Amino acid sequence: MEKFKSQRPVVYRCDGVNCRKKKGKLLDYYIKKYKLKNKIEVEQMDCNNKCEQAPVLHLHPDDIWFSEKDLGTIVKKHILNK
Ligand code: FES
Repeated sequence: MEKFKSQRPVVYRCDGVNCRKKKGKLLDYYIKKYKLKNKIEVEQMDCNNKCEQAPVLHLHPDDIWFSEKDLGTIVKKHILNK
């Protein structure tokens, strides 16, 4: 089954009520800016009790939890490898 798994990084976006309230739009912005559409996958996840950092994202497989304000750094360092 492993061979069917995506090799692309997956960005999980929290769909919990507290994150949704903050309506993060930066992920869409960076996907457009750096043409990431075919380089990453985007999935939804439930609340992980990290609401104080809302809107919360998680990068797999690097296993990094971060707030949307750090998305630019994460994209450059872990997705674009710059
Ligand atoms: S609602 Fe997103 S971490 Fe709780």
